[in-house]
Amino acid sequence: MGEAFDAVDVIITKRDRRELTDEQIRWVIDAYTRGVVAEEQMSALAMAVLLNGMTRREIATWTSAMIASGERMSFSALGKPTADKHSTGGVGDKITLPLAPLVAVFGVAVPQLSGRGLGHTGGTLDKLESIPGWRASLSNQEMLRQLDEVGAVICAAGSGLAPADKKLYALRDVTGTVEAIPLIASSIMSKKIAEGTGALVLDVKVGSGAFMKNPDDARELARTMVELGADAGVKTVALLTNMHTPLGLTAGNALEVRESIEVLAGGGPPDVVDLTVRLAEEMLDAAGRGGQDVRLALTDGRAMDAWRRMIAAQDGDPDAPLPVAGETEDILAPADGVLTTLDAYAVGVAAWRLGAGRARKEDPVQAGAGVELHAKPGAVVRGGEKLMTLHTDTPDKFERAKGALAQAFTIASHGSRPDLPPLVIDRIG
Ligand code: URA
Repeated sequence: MGEAFDAVDVIITKRDRRELTDEQIRWVIDAYTRGVVAEEQMSALAMAVLLNGMTRREIATWTSAMIASGERMSFSALGKPTADKHSTGGVGDKITLPLAPLVAVFGVAVPQLSGRGLGHTGGTLDKLESIPGWRASLSNQEMLRQLDEVGAVICAAGSGLAPADKKLYALRDVTGTVEAIPLIASSIMSKKIAEGTGALVLDVKVGSGAFMKNPDDARELARTMVELGADAGVKTVALLTNMHTPLGLTAGNALEVRESIEVLAGGGPPDVVDLTVRLAEEMLDAAGRGGQDVRLALTDGRAMDAWRRMIAAQDGDPDAPLPVAGETEDILAPADGVLTTLDAYAVGVAAWRLGAGRARKEDPVQAGAGVELHAKPGAVVRGGEKLMTLHTDTPDKFERAKGALAQAFTIASHGSRPDLPPLVIDRIG
């Protein structure tokens, strides 16, 4: 059977700033998934979309075509509401780890399909894999059983979910087309809608460590995703949150698990606790279970109990010691004063160079590698005091990591007041 369209015509339409029809969009996504539209043709189309944009209708059709490329999951048999959270990615963003068990405490099931890190941002699965025995891949039946019995699951998305996105995301990664708002929005929302969650809270990061460097772009991305969710019947809200500086005091896999466990034990850095609580409140509200004392579940042990059951259900040992890197090196404050800036992107690159992240999808990561911070913007520091500790199993990486951090922080004279943006910048939904 002949093809309904010619890929070159579709590319030219978008190149010339005209709107694609629904039929053209459905065809191009399907034909690309089948291998009929070639990689170089899809890459030209992705670049035309990046340069010329898409209308709301085009984005909605593009998203539903990506959903239709694979299976759709359903949690209707569970008999309880479901809520998921998605972060657009940042440095030190371990919030999913304490958040999923915390929300489960309140009878809302959390089906959290997560990814691995690429580039300077960490991946939730890489972090959890530093727990001895823990298993990222579950069958759909195992996932459903765990949601029923434990209430929270964090696992890898199966290959059947939005396969068009898997192919397209890998292509965008190597063609300079990741940053197109219509493509980011449709990529994220196709997976979340196909996953079948009833409610979704989006954490759209803004700042040097995020995809979106300025609030206007982040707001447009958030609005686009909230509209796509609403169109698909998923109750969706978005928070715009600060990613100028890392979240918490750690960036790196086992380091971040350790900090998450501190939060679940009722301690941990205030920014991680506050964002975890705020996102949990938004998820419970969106799932129709709002108005609960969420913070209490972190201090009275209920969230920790749910965490231990969640880890054990995936063969992890919640009591096993976490891996520790073989070597450390400290970075000292060069002078007395106030730490006014600490750049998230630089810390992310340093953690990546130390071995916490990967340059290519197939690279291994070091469980113990990363950056530990001893001060955050606003803190008073003394010359010679430790500002950061670098962790790695491969000490030849220290120099490159230190290179990334050379311009990463500013220490101003005593009395300086740093301009600290709020943790939550805006809410859309
Ligand atoms: N995360 C995704 O899943 N897709 C994108 O395009 C960007 C971030």
